[in-house]
Amino acid sequence: MSSTSQAFQAPRGTYDILPTTAGTVLAVREALAAPLRRAGYGYVETPVFEDVNLFSRGVGESTDIVTKEMFTIATRSEESQRLALRPEATASVLRATLEANLHRTGNLPVKLWYSGAQYRYERPQKGRYRQFWQVGAEAIGAEDPALDAELIILADDAYRSLGLRNFRILLNSLGDKQCRPVYREALQNYLRGLDLDEETLRRAEINPLRVLDDKRASVQDQLGGAPMLVDFLCEDCKAYHEQVRELLTAAGVAFEDDPKLVRGLDYYTRTTFEFVHDGLGAQSAVGGGGRYDGLSEMIGGPELPSVGWALGVDRTVLALEAEGITLDIPATTDVYAVPMGEQARRVLFGLVTGLRRAGVSADLLFGGRGVKAGFKAADRSGARFAVVAGERDLADGVVQLKDLTSGDQTPVALDALVTTLKEKLQ
Ligand code: HAM
Repeated sequence: MSSTSQAFQAPRGTYDILPTTAGTVLAVREALAAPLRRAGYGYVETPVFEDVNLFSRGVGESTDIVTKEMFTIATRSEESQRLALRPEATASVLRATLEANLHRTGNLPVKLWYSGAQYRYERPQKGRYRQFWQVGAEAIGAEDPALDAELIILADDAYRSLGLRNFRILLNSLGDKQCRPVYREALQNYLRGLDLDEETLRRAEINPLRVLDDKRASVQDQLGGAPMLVDFLCEDCKAYHEQVRELLTAAGVAFEDDPKLVRGLDYYTRTTFEFVHDGLGAQSAVGGGGRYDGLSEMIGGPELPSVGWALGVDRTVLALEAEGITLDIPATTDVYAVPMGEQARRVLFGLVTGLRRAGVSADLLFGGRGVKAGFKAADRSGARFAVVAGERDLADGVVQLKDLTSGDQTPVALDALVTTLKEKLQ
């Protein structure tokens, strides 16, 4: 089919995951989640859409995510304008926790993990999509530096288990409700004296910390003398941060202090961190997270200090490519059956069914095609063995078992095929 006859394409900023890459994508999702399962995190799924106010209140009214990037859904009922595709999952997971009272009925912290698509109406480029996949973790209802350290270590373990090495951990503390307001005011006073455009000045009034994150040289050049949050941290925040740092160091996890790390969501307090990969260009953050001690109260819940992260699956796959790492993905089909003639077709159909029921992955040549097409299909399938049979073989009560790597072919009795293949595939 020529490309011009293709009427529809995947929407801008999205892409299809096809069988050729699916093995890697699924293995990455699994690898990012495995350390969480070993650390007592329980799996949760929440809807892909929520009340839009959950995100504006939770993620923050002044963030790019809420003001520019939310996919709001028009429905047929009066609920229109009230729903949005989730741009992230932390607010949703906390909403679900509060709704089900998990914080009252179970252990604290409530430890949860999730895996799912998120939606942001961003300008698409390599590594930045409008639908992307995160594996995330949230530990809800405990203030303990060991929990912050645990999460950072688990993410580090996850990336390392995939063989990734060229990433760095950036670490910062954003202070708490005691010390941040004092800093905020000092920063605002500084920013008001700069030569900034109107929008940036407005941002300085709503969320001055975000101005520090502005990538434009015209802004960055003026920030040299800006007051830094580290110099304003209260004693509690300083001590807390020091403990997180010590625990990471004791676990052998290297990190870089980055006093300018702000993150694009408003709910963070104290510990914030980002995993950046050096082979990815502009979209270098493969994961990020931090503590959000005030979020529960912001969405109408009780005080529940919490910490979490989300790791980007799409960017982790790109990071593997950048480091030239190919994961060892098992073939989807171990055995491919090639019948010669009608009678053989029926017998091999039965054999393939039996193999599958015995736990061996097997496929069969469909469509009534001949032997030549059959061997081509067997090669393409990635199978290690082909099972070939014609009338003469069946009359002798055997099939031919061909090792597709060595080319060796041996007859095997029909009733011994399952055990023979199971042995050879071990
Ligand atoms: P985030 O930094 O917005 O944090 O996203 C986490 C990761 O998701 C990023 O580091 C990146 O790898 C990936 N990501 C974000 N946007 C895109 C995009 N447009 N295309 C591809 N990948 C993307 C959060 O979402 C917070 N909820 C993390 C968190 C959990 N904080 C506390 N708990």
